[in-house]
Amino acid sequence: MSFTIRNFHPSDMSMIYKICLLTGDSGKDATDLYSDPELLGHYYAAPYAIFEPELCFIVTNDGKPCGYILGTKDSDGFAENCEKKWFPELRNRYKLPDENDTSRDAAIIRKIHEGQLVKHEVKNYPAHLHIDLLPETQGQGMGRKLIEVFVNKLKEFNASALHLEVGKRNEGAIKFYEKVGFHEICEYEYSIAFGMKL
Ligand SMILES: CC(C)(COP(=O)(O)OP(=O)(O)OC[C@H]1O[C@@H](n2cnc3c(N)ncnc32)[C@H](O)[C@@H]1OP(=O)(O)O)[C@@H](O)C(=O)NCCC(=O)NCCS
Repeated sequence: MSFTIRNFHPSDMSMIYKICLLTGDSGKDATDLYSDPELLGHYYAAPYAIFEPELCFIVTNDGKPCGYILGTKDSDGFAENCEKKWFPELRNRYKLPDENDTSRDAAIIRKIHEGQLVKHEVKNYPAHLHIDLLPETQGQGMGRKLIEVFVNKLKEFNASALHLEVGKRNEGAIKFYEKVGFHEICEYEYSIAFGMKL
């Protein structure tokens, strides 16, 4: 295996969607949980690569994408961009589900209709990120390297701080974030917000 980190290229997009799904159940494969395999990527991955490609980095294994880090330097600006240029088309395509619909698809479609909400607890951490590596790429230091590359790029943009949210069930990722320099900002019912001042 030969891992490389490089900048995003538009041809990575279908693998970004796949990686997002293959790690979408608290770090595990979510393929069986969604009837529409693109939904997770529509919300958690693709718009970042499109609107802020300079903050999207891809890990490749022998040339093939096997992980990514992506995010935004300014969560409020990103939310506005998504409102103008990303969610309208998706809201046409995915109608708001019936309130009795408890499926995972319905949960993401509701998020698409809500938009990217920036919670007040993380307002002092304007940047945010998502990081996902396929299983064969995990545990070999690539996650730490991706965080370094991402943080260095944020510093070039003079971002003051960054945050992320992780599900409480994802114990491995929680340990990872603590190891690579994040501190807990607050706890929600099912997730924890972590932050890093730059
Ligand atoms: C979480 C993730 C990004 C970590 O990346 P990684 O490449 O596996 O982690 P690294 O090898 O760079 O590890 C960095 C440090 O974190 C620790 N760490 C990483 N994963 C860990 C785990 N599951 N349990 C305990 N510690 C862990 C490592 O031991 C290492 O510590 P050290 O430097 O002191 O030795 C990666 O495993 C992943 O993508 N998982 C699936 C998707 C996911 O859960 N994404 C996060 C969603 S919020």
